[in-house]
Amino acid sequence: MILTNLSRASAPAKVVLLGEHFVVYGSPAILGSIDRRIRVSAQIIRPPQIIIRSDTGFSASFAANKLDECGTNLSEAQKFTYPLYFAAHEVISGSLNAKAAKLGVEIDIHSDIPYGIGLGSSAASCVATVAAVGSLFLKRDRHWIFTRAHRAERLIHKSSSGGDCYVSTFGGLIYYIRNGKNRKIKTRRSVSMILVNTGIKHSTKALVSLVENFRNQNTSLFDDLANSATHICDQAALALTEDNPIKLGRLMSRNQRLLETLGVSTVETDNLVRYCLDSGAYGAKLTGAGGGGSVIALVPDEYKTEFEYKLLEKYSYQCIPVQIKSYGLMKY
Ligand code: MEV
Repeated sequence: MILTNLSRASAPAKVVLLGEHFVVYGSPAILGSIDRRIRVSAQIIRPPQIIIRSDTGFSASFAANKLDECGTNLSEAQKFTYPLYFAAHEVISGSLNAKAAKLGVEIDIHSDIPYGIGLGSSAASCVATVAAVGSLFLKRDRHWIFTRAHRAERLIHKSSSGGDCYVSTFGGLIYYIRNGKNRKIKTRRSVSMILVNTGIKHSTKALVSLVENFRNQNTSLFDDLANSATHICDQAALALTEDNPIKLGRLMSRNQRLLETLGVSTVETDNLVRYCLDSGAYGAKLTGAGGGGSVIALVPDEYKTEFEYKLLEKYSYQCIPVQIKSYGLMKY
């Protein structure tokens, strides 16, 4: 049954507080959804096409009644939006009446999540697209949406742990284990950080495969690092519930050193992290895949203004205050 001709969904960006990369191999990670979102609207159209448009100016069109291959014949806009097309196509082809009626969908995307700096914009767009297209046909629960969004995200990097899609779907502060039992971490106060955007865009896929090579060549060192990462996450989960920012900051900085050993940090990021610590942060580390991207710094409230000023004085990097919010996916 088709419920509606138009539906809307929005999904949040995320930061990885701790545990990135190791989470791909079964260690935990702590992720939080933040107050930046991607909004997707989906509308039934009669020609069996899937049209994807974004406020950044691109527009791509695909077949809805068969799955277009992701080959070299696709335009740049089609390649970029292919995972969203794949997700929408899967939802439509799984809906018997849409298939029978040979319907298509027009998808419009509006985002305030900067792309390629570790904030999970790809995962959020997959989550919001699956939710918006899914609700055109049936009521869908979050697990249904997460599973399909993760499948689509895996076209971007096939080893994705699913953490980004999970936190974007369910929201809040999550202790995440790939294929494991995830739980929300409850805090007394909302956690806020300063995100420093180096402006250096990265490819998550390339960095995840760099770590895979590192692991293949340094098996026992990798296992030691992964054990330390697990311990750090467990301690950090406690520090968060105990509202102990000093301990949390120290753990973040220890996690950064593990990421430096893996080779996913850059000289600029290492220097930036040290500068954040010298400028009053309790702790700082890269967030997400690394290779440039962003650094998160846990800064005492009373130093935040001075901290941002010091960073602007030395670097021209953009500082974005981020707050962990409990809202995940929203449909309306
Ligand atoms: C990317 O936000 C986090 C990584 O751990 C990859 C993943 O978990 O799929 C680098």
